[in-house]
Amino acid sequence: MGEALRIGIVTAYLEQDWHSQQLVAAVARIAEPCIIRPDQLGAAVMPDGVSVLAQGIDLTALDGFILARGFGDRGNSDFLVPVYQMLERTGAVLVNSINALLVAIDKFETSVRLRQAGVATPKVVVAQDVELARGVLREWGRAVVKPLFGSLGLGIELVEDTPGGYALLPVLLERFGAIYLQEFVPTPGRDIRAFVVGDRVAASIYRVAAPGGWRTNIAQGGAPERCRLDAATAGLAVAAARAVGLDYTGVDLLEGPEGPSVIEVNGNPLWQGVLDATGRNMAEEIVAWVITRITQTAAKGGEGRA
Ligand SMILES: Nc1ncnc2c1ncn2[C@@H]1O[C@H](COP(=O)(O)OP(=O)(O)O)[C@@H](O)[C@H]1O
Ligand SMILES: [Mg+2]
Repeated sequence: MGEALRIGIVTAYLEQDWHSQQLVAAVARIAEPCIIRPDQLGAAVMPDGVSVLAQGIDLTALDGFILARGFGDRGNSDFLVPVYQMLERTGAVLVNSINALLVAIDKFETSVRLRQAGVATPKVVVAQDVELARGVLREWGRAVVKPLFGSLGLGIELVEDTPGGYALLPVLLERFGAIYLQEFVPTPGRDIRAFVVGDRVAASIYRVAAPGGWRTNIAQGGAPERCRLDAATAGLAVAAARAVGLDYTGVDLLEGPEGPSVIEVNGNPLWQGVLDATGRNMAEEIVAWVITRITQTAAKGGEGRA
C-alpha cells in the first residue's frame, strides 16, 4: 500500500454535526478523506457493470466508507438503501454496514437478533391492538413503551397497570400504529453505555439519570460518568454488537437484579458524553478499525474490487 488510502465519509450534516467533523479530522491524520453528501449520490447501470457516482467520481475508486450520517433531509432514502447495499456487495468496506444499520434502527428486529444470539435482553411484546397490550400490563404490572423506531429517549413512557396506564394505550397505538412493550428493569438510577469498536469495548460510561427521571439518555439530562466494565459485561456488549453486525456502536446495558442485559445497540451512536467522561475520542478508534477492515479485505484478494 504505497499510496494513501482514500476513505469516503458519507454525511448529510458536515457543517452541523460535530461527529462527522471528528471523523473527517481523524481520517485526515492517516488517510485521504473524501466527503460525500448522500443527496449527491447517483448510480449507473451499464453494459459493463453497475457503479455508484458522487459528483462525477466513481466510488469504486475509494478504499472504504464511513456512513457517518448516511441519510438526511434531502435525497431519497428509498434509493440510498439499495445504493449502500450495492456498494457493499461489490466488496466495499462500509462502516457501519447498511444492513446492520437497518436492524439497529428497528427496536423489534434488534430484540429478536439479541435473543436469538443468546444475548441477555429484557422480555418484549409488540402489539398492534389494545387487548394484547393491556394483557401485558396486567401480567407485568408495568412496561416501558417505546416507538419501534426512535432514539434519544424520545417518545418512551413508563406505563403502569392502572386505569391511567390503560387509558394511555389506545393513545400510543393511535400515534405509533404498533407499540413495543418492554419489561421494566429496576436499575441503580443509571445505565451503561459501552462503545464497541470492532471486537472490543473501546470505552464505556455510566449515564446517570437526572433527579426524578429514569431515562438516562444524555438528551434527557443524563450525566456521563466514568465506568470500568468487568470482562463479562464487556463480552456481553461485544456479543450484542456482533448479533446486529455493527462495526461500531453504543450498546445500552441495564444492571438489573438478574445481572446485566442489553436494551439496544445504536447504529449512529453519539460520543460527546464518552469524550467528556473519559477524554477519549471514538473517532480515532473508528477510523483505526476501518483501516483494519480495509487491510483485511485487501489481504483476502479484494473480492471483486478493482
Ligand atoms: N426496559 C427498561 N427498563 C428500565 N429503563 C429503561 C428500559 N428501557 C429503556 N430504559 C431507559 O430509557 C432509556 C432509553 O431507552 P432506549 O431503549 O435506549 O431508547 P432510545 O433509542 O430512545 O435511546 C435507556 O437508556 C434507559 O435509561
Ligand atoms: Mg438508547
